[in-house]
Amino acid sequence: MSPKRENFNSKLGLLLAIVGSAVGLGNMWRFPYLLGSNGGSAFLIIYLVLVFILCTPITLAEYYVGRKTKKDCFRAFDDILKPGPGRIFGSILCFSAFFTISYYIVVGGWIISYFFGCFNFNTFFSADNIKHFENVAMGMGGTPASALQSTITAILFLAISAVVLCGGVVKGIEKFSKITMPVLFFLILFVAIYSCSLDGAEEGIKYLLKPDFSKVTGSTFSNALGQAFMSLSLGCGTLMTYASYSQKDSNSVRTSLLTIILDSCFAIISGLAIIPAVFAFGMVPGQGPELLFNTLPRIFTLMKGGSLVAVLFFFTVFIAALSSAISLMEVLISVVTGSGKVSRGRAVLYVTAATIITGTLCCLSFGPLNGIKLPGGTIFDFFNITSTNIFMTLGSLGLVLLVGWKLGKKDFKSVLADKTPLGSSDVFFNIMFFIVRWVAPIVIVTIMVLGFINN
Ligand code: PHE
Repeated sequence: MSPKRENFNSKLGLLLAIVGSAVGLGNMWRFPYLLGSNGGSAFLIIYLVLVFILCTPITLAEYYVGRKTKKDCFRAFDDILKPGPGRIFGSILCFSAFFTISYYIVVGGWIISYFFGCFNFNTFFSADNIKHFENVAMGMGGTPASALQSTITAILFLAISAVVLCGGVVKGIEKFSKITMPVLFFLILFVAIYSCSLDGAEEGIKYLLKPDFSKVTGSTFSNALGQAFMSLSLGCGTLMTYASYSQKDSNSVRTSLLTIILDSCFAIISGLAIIPAVFAFGMVPGQGPELLFNTLPRIFTLMKGGSLVAVLFFFTVFIAALSSAISLMEVLISVVTGSGKVSRGRAVLYVTAATIITGTLCCLSFGPLNGIKLPGGTIFDFFNITSTNIFMTLGSLGLVLLVGWKLGKKDFKSVLADKTPLGSSDVFFNIMFFIVRWVAPIVIVTIMVLGFINN
């Protein structure tokens, strides 16, 4: 017997939940740096072309499977492939989500430390103390207190996600997204306007947006594609899971396109919130953790009203990361409840418990477990690299092959068609299906190969 599944209550709730999954650390710490260092708007053009031409069809393909089967990602392929091989493929998506959430909560924990650090701003973030603060927050301090702090904050981050998830699809995820997503957009917009109005910000805006085609190489394309996949949460089953909760009359094509547009806007605005401020204070933008957890705090201490901007900024990053974490956990929770034998509350507990184990190992790999080397580096690196380079890519590849070759164009269209101009256009669906069937598999295999060569 298949269990009763909840549906999102409104189209807006569904859209905001999917956008919440997409908008996350990928937009806020990866994109701004990639944009600046890969030729500014030259990179932006390549990114947007890839996102709209290649990722729209892949997004639709994931949405299609969720909406068609109305099952969790482990069981969605039972009817398409028969349970045996179907579940092998389904487990790739589950591993993808599980590995991603395991390292994502570690960074979530750092954000919590920084958010609280903002309240003792002048002491913690001063030029003399920031390195120490960073080491302790990230569990690299070499002391039990530092290892404990990073582990506890990661577990706290996970626990907050779990509390939201206990509320279920409508009262948990939908309600959370409806409240936080608008706040998120206003906050990042405010920080971006402030940052761009600082003296000397023009240099940063130029760095971000001035096209420099001499920086475009083969790896620019693989960087842009990798970023697009990560940013749109493809290959983790999140979109499939959320789409499986969609109501009959929700507009699939409109929801997918709006997600892509909003996610891209958010990434660009994040760039404008971060990089101009970095240049205004004569610093150099670094990548990833260093940019967010070292350069920016130092800038906030130099900025007028910096403590308030810091609080708003870290709160924004926190919400963005939290909504992504929620979507990743929901993939696993829907799988556990999918048998019909486990209640939602218990499923949240099981998934949280399992993630505490792997998440703690990832945390401790910055401190006491630093010596353990796995393929890719430390335990944290292993989870990060395996999920992005292997599971997510395999997940997307399998998905486009199944949709393109096993399921027909007619069904693809009839499940996704809606009343919007594009959603009712045959030409649009022909192009989308063609890309899913022919172009996407070739491009995904190419990125995989490039990824392996570059590592
Ligand atoms: N899209 C999220 C980000 O940009 C990350 C994520 C990947 C979330 C896969 C869910 C699934 O940070």
